[in-house]
Amino acid sequence: MKVLVIGANGNTATRLIERLVESEHDPIAMIRAPAQRAKFDKLGVSTVLADLEYPIDHAVQGCDAIIFAAGSGGKTGKDKTVLIDHIGAIRSMVAAQVHGVRRYIMLSSINNDVNSQSPIAHYHRAKAHADNYLIESDLDYTIVCPGGLTDEVGTELVSVSGKLQGKGLTSRDNLAAALAGCLDYAGTVGQSFSLLDGDTPLAEALTRL
Ligand SMILES: NC(=O)c1ccc[n+]([C@@H]2O[C@H](COP(=O)([O-])OP(=O)(O)OC[C@H]3O[C@@H](n4cnc5c(N)ncnc54)[C@H](OP(=O)(O)O)[C@@H]3O)[C@@H](O)[C@H]2O)c1
Repeated sequence: MKVLVIGANGNTATRLIERLVESEHDPIAMIRAPAQRAKFDKLGVSTVLADLEYPIDHAVQGCDAIIFAAGSGGKTGKDKTVLIDHIGAIRSMVAAQVHGVRRYIMLSSINNDVNSQSPIAHYHRAKAHADNYLIESDLDYTIVCPGGLTDEVGTELVSVSGKLQGKGLTSRDNLAAALAGCLDYAGTVGQSFSLLDGDTPLAEALTRL
């Protein structure tokens, strides 16, 4: 599958692209600065310049699947959280619908809630609005909800659950493996699940969904 990775230059998405290069899929890295191209050129991965604050139709056209791994991050203002994690995410879903890209995989988060009162409520609310749009869309979606992200080396041992509230950590390696795995496990379509580091082999956890 031709897979558009949105937010490709990010910490998780770079790991994801590296995995997809080793797979039967054909990743396309959506980046927002020309200087980021060199990293993907070295991997033999095509790039497309696009920014979630503007139309991204040119990036989406001709793809078979989208993996959304972008985010405004903790260092920008709350306005960017709304513009990127909420509105930008929905913009990409609408583009997928318009251009007939059926498969859409969202890197989300645990504890999302449109009425969140958490210390990062603006983030949890924005992600919940985007997730809800996706669930109500006609797209073949999967929503992967990690805990706090770490740079621990991946074990591919995880804990997967339909319970989306809680606490825990998720290595970015394990998360990247799960996002890539969703492309290959048909049972993940139409599912939202939390993904924490655990003791179940990833393939087994995805098969059970
Ligand atoms: N951190 C946590 O503990 C945690 C926990 C649960 C879920 N998450 C979710 O996981 C996501 C990925 O985490 P990460 O650490 O891998 O993220 P990251 O390294 O911060 O990467 C985010 C990527 O999004 C891109 N981006 C930002 N604004 C954009 C825009 N307007 N248009 C297109 N791309 C844009 C950035 O582009 P540039 O490279 O150009 O800046 C960056 O490459 C987070 O965004 C968050 O939603 C995080």
